[in-house]
Amino acid sequence: MSADKSQRKILITNALPYANGPLHLGHMVGFMQADIWARFQKVRGHKVTFVGGDDQHGTPIMLGAEAKGISPQQLIDDTEALHKESLTGFSIDLDNYTGTHHPENQRISAEIYTKLKERGHIDVRVIKQAFDEEKGMFLPDRYVKGTCPKCKAADQYGDNCEVCGTTYDTTDLIDAYSVLSGKAPIEKESEHYFFKVSDFEKMLLEWKNSDALQPEIANKLDEWFESGLIDWDISRDKPYWGFEIPGAPGKYFYVWLDAPIGYMASHQVHCEKTNDDWHSYWNADSDAELYHFIGKDIVRFHTLFWPAMLKAVDYRQPNGVFVHGFLTVDGTKMSKTRGTFIMAETYLKHLNPEYLRYYFAAKLSSSVVDMDLNLEDFSARVNSDIVGKMVNIASRCAGFISKRFDGMLAEESAAPELHAEFADAADSIAARYEKREFSQAMRDIMALADKANQFIDEHKPWILIKDESKLDEVQQICTAGINAFRSLCIYLKPVLPNLVADAEVFLNDGELNWSDLQTPLLKHQINKFKPLITRIESESIERMVEESKKSLEPKPAQKDAVNNEQSTALGQDPISPEINYDEFAKVDLRIAKIIKAEHVDGADKLLQLTLDIGGETRNVFAGIKSAYKPEDLEGKLTVMVANLAPRKMRFGMSEGMVLAAGPGGSDLFVLNPDDGAEPGMRVK
Ligand code: MSP
Ligand code: ZN
Repeated sequence: MSADKSQRKILITNALPYANGPLHLGHMVGFMQADIWARFQKVRGHKVTFVGGDDQHGTPIMLGAEAKGISPQQLIDDTEALHKESLTGFSIDLDNYTGTHHPENQRISAEIYTKLKERGHIDVRVIKQAFDEEKGMFLPDRYVKGTCPKCKAADQYGDNCEVCGTTYDTTDLIDAYSVLSGKAPIEKESEHYFFKVSDFEKMLLEWKNSDALQPEIANKLDEWFESGLIDWDISRDKPYWGFEIPGAPGKYFYVWLDAPIGYMASHQVHCEKTNDDWHSYWNADSDAELYHFIGKDIVRFHTLFWPAMLKAVDYRQPNGVFVHGFLTVDGTKMSKTRGTFIMAETYLKHLNPEYLRYYFAAKLSSSVVDMDLNLEDFSARVNSDIVGKMVNIASRCAGFISKRFDGMLAEESAAPELHAEFADAADSIAARYEKREFSQAMRDIMALADKANQFIDEHKPWILIKDESKLDEVQQICTAGINAFRSLCIYLKPVLPNLVADAEVFLNDGELNWSDLQTPLLKHQINKFKPLITRIESESIERMVEESKKSLEPKPAQKDAVNNEQSTALGQDPISPEINYDEFAKVDLRIAKIIKAEHVDGADKLLQLTLDIGGETRNVFAGIKSAYKPEDLEGKLTVMVANLAPRKMRFGMSEGMVLAAGPGGSDLFVLNPDDGAEPGMRVK
């Protein structure tokens, strides 16, 4: 399509993944959603630019590099290479991939910050923070642990207690210690820079009402407005891996300041390569559309801070921030023990990426709900829809055309009305894609595939072919079938780019576009049909799960606790303060039999356990709900601390603690003693 008036200029981004680990299938949700949407806009003839890159700054990357004995630069370079490989493997069609440590990002970040400052939107304030004297650094909340001031549970993070759910300040923790050195942190003052988000309340309210947000996200913003917009701390003290703030030696931009600016920098690099006009996309009077795809955990950054920052320096607002939910596998959080914490590269070793692209499309909608990858449903759905319905149409018809008619399609189709029906669906299917109702689009498309298969079933070309007088009819029937297949290819081109590229070779008519839906291929030479895709074999899935179980190391890119200011796991083992033997000897460890395990009303993480320690029963609340179903625990032996002072909790009295190991979440194991243990036995 030429650059006519109806051609839209669309700039698309997906959240920039942290450069501290490989991509997993959770990351692929956003990438695939954005990619399908971008490809859809392209096949409709619009001018689309889809840019991305790694998010390369922050404390975890600094410490991660240190732990590996390499420089942060080396770590981000290595990770970028890995990420790019995975993205290419899943056919994520990014026009440019530039990480946030790029000089272009430093330039734009400095420019934006300087304007914010000149315009009076930056406040400097002294704040008190935990400081690790041994490491010589300030500690983000998640790097401080201690005893919960409320329920007295040990080893809780600096911002909230996982046992009783209380949130508090790091300074409230009892016996706080640094996760990095194990030493008690001191309190230290330092100057921080704040972006005054509240200066933009009016504009944010207007933008919120502009259709740019899903209703559930707009509601979230209302809540934030109600509780009042808080100034945003955008600086961090050295040592920090990031960009130094202009005019403030020793102060660095907080990773989230320059992360979204990374969208601009990546786009700038693309514009340089292609001679495009960056300002025509970003200026307030831009004629382009801007869309950000993100996960539900990073909404605040993209719907408050980012639009406010853009406004403050006279850039345009996003036309849409599209938020998706989180991926679960087989109904629960991805788990390393179950082999469902699947890395992108592990998937690619065992399965065709187009299977997952189709499955995600079949499940994605425009809402923020979480999405489950059920491995059984996954293979059933792909085998039935793609292999059994779509590709089957071509394989049922292609053989006759090539063997009996020299690859020539008939002058007339046996089913012009079928073709018309397929063509008539174009607008409604386009509307589904446009609104990101991919699952509904897939259902509509598969309903058409069913019709085409029915048509072939009814006309039975494999019987007619035996009758010499019916050859013309067979050619026309198969021509109808091939055309139905071609229409399905157009509809599914955003989802199955590789399969459709192969189909384009088979159809021998160049690249398929949305406008081709209206005109059937008649009296046209097609190529020999080669199998386009094979069924998913359950063995491949099993092998992928097995390999995922094995790859417990190196640690995957866990949701970055520090950077996102909300998470449960930290990719680093805490170091507890040293105790002497006498202190250890005081701990009475006993074998306990779990005789009952129950849910606790109103507690997200707790299970109530009734333990038998040899004639005596104990009631214990344990924070292991994310890892165990109650029924799986009953009858198990475990080790408990029997002489812990009883503790009154919101839900009742807890009379001891059971020992569990693991990084947390679903990967938590109640220690299970060997055979021969009896309830009540002492553990030495
Ligand atoms: N670096 C930030 C984003 C900066 S954007 C200017 C970040 N990185 S991340 O690696 O933690 O996450 C990248 C994207 O993947 C985010 O949109 C996040 O929501 C998404 N997901 C990470 N784990 C996910 C699932 N398990 N499921 C679905 N999406 C998930 O946040
Ligand atoms: Zn607590």
